[in-house]
Amino acid sequence: MTMKPFLPLLTVGLFLLSACGLEKPPASLKFPDDKKAAAAPEAAAPAPVAPAATEAPADPKLAAGKAVYDANCAGCHEAGMMGAPKPGDKAAWSARIPQGLEVITKKSLEGFQGKAGMMPAKGGNASLTNEQVSSAVAFMVDKSK
Ligand code: HEC
Repeated sequence: MTMKPFLPLLTVGLFLLSACGLEKPPASLKFPDDKKAAAAPEAAAPAPVAPAATEAPADPKLAAGKAVYDANCAGCHEAGMMGAPKPGDKAAWSARIPQGLEVITKKSLEGFQGKAGMMPAKGGNASLTNEQVSSAVAFMVDKSK
């Protein structure tokens, strides 16, 4: 579904590629030095196909977790503030993940003092439900595997 908007671009890109191919022989006959200039658009054309990097996770629980994370946890964790491990930073999470999701979640609900710093209970927002915190933890761990 998300590929749809890119299809016209892809078509244009392919058309340009074949157009360049057709024009190459006469161009090289007249100006041998123009070869490089003619090749540049060919390399640039396929670029727009890359998907967006900041897409929400497909799993609804992880998507809900991302929303909780963005609003309550990112302030410390996205900046790596006071040693808070950033989701996706595999090196920072490799020693934490083996504890198991259950232990990591319990520590996040209750808060703990670690070697890196102080993680407040529920990230300092007592109005969050256990389920909200759990889904945020699941999102963070899933992103860091
Ligand atoms: C005030 C800053 C701060 C906020 C806000 C915060 N954290 Fe943390 N968090 C930390 C720090 C610092 C650590 C690292 C503690 C250590 O290991 O020394 C940490 C560690 C963690 C860990 C790793 C636990 C482990 O077992 O290694 C998880 C999971 C976590 N936080 C989840 C959350 C969630 C979920 C939220 C939002 C609801 C949140 N944090 C909000 C500072 C914060």
